Amino acid sequence: MDPPLPLAGQTALVTGAAQGLGYAAAARLAAEGARVALLDRDGERLGAAADALGAQGLTVLPHTVDLTDEEGVRAAVAAVLSAEGRIDVLVNNVGIYPHRPFEELTYAEWRHVFAVNLDSVFLCTHAVYPAMRERGYGRIVNVSSSTFFIGYPGLAAYIASKGGIIGFTRALASEAGPHGITVNAVTPGLIATEGVLGGEEAGLFDEIVPQQALPRRGEPDDIAECIAYLASPAAGFITGQTINVDGGHRFH
Ligand SMILES: NC(=O)c1ccc[n+]([C@@H]2O[C@H](COP(=O)([O-])OP(=O)(O)OC[C@H]3O[C@@H](n4cnc5c(N)ncnc54)[C@H](O)[C@@H]3O)[C@@H](O)[C@H]2O)c1
Repeated sequence: MDPPLPLAGQTALVTGAAQGLGYAAAARLAAEGARVALLDRDGERLGAAADALGAQGLTVLPHTVDLTDEEGVRAAVAAVLSAEGRIDVLVNNVGIYPHRPFEELTYAEWRHVFAVNLDSVFLCTHAVYPAMRERGYGRIVNVSSSTFFIGYPGLAAYIASKGGIIGFTRALASEAGPHGITVNAVTPGLIATEGVLGGEEAGLFDEIVPQQALPRRGEPDDIAECIAYLASPAAGFITGQTINVDGGHRFH
């Protein structure tokens, strides 16, 4: 008989799950046996993602929601908790990465980047946390970015928001640990997602890949693998950490 899947009987929630890293993470967690709630604002793409995963025999629960909308997030999380009775794993993945020279960056744009990248982490975690604390178990994995260690130009709002995620991860890890909840961050390097391939970063692979110790293009599954490990019961003595997954572009 095959051993039980590591996440059998568990429920996970992944934000920004209609494509890219969120989709890959959701697919991986579902393949490990979790029932996975997919949250994204793009209802059409989310439906297609849920259909594709469902066709593989995986159990997914799509919820269309703008992750900057407090009421929407609380309602989506409440719906998952009422249907499932539990959320064991939260993957705070949603994020946007617009490029703007600092002097052209408006306050409204700065606030929007923070709303999507950092406020969503607060809102989702705050909505999920009480149920994890009550059950004495939880795995929270936050998606930051390796750009935090480098500080590329044109990304002040993005990198500041991703640094905020690392600070949040450390502080909450200390507070949540006694309740059996781990909180970790992953910092992906340049990864070939739909968002990157369709944006200004698409041309960066030629420059960055040769600088990596592992000189190949980073793929969404490379990040999903790390997220799945941190989300597993096996990672129960790791918390407050930031794991860099960038093919050895930078060593920390
Ligand atoms: N791809 C990379 O190279 C890379 C590197 C480092 C970090 N990251 C981080 O990984 C995460 C995912 O990146 P990706 O490349 O997969 O992105 P992507 O653009 O391919 O996908 C992002 C998803 O988030 C959804 N989304 C955006 N704003 C939303 C909102 N307000 N409410 C709900 N859903 C929303 C989009 O509809 C989309 O499905 C981001 O946090 C990003 O900063 C990516």
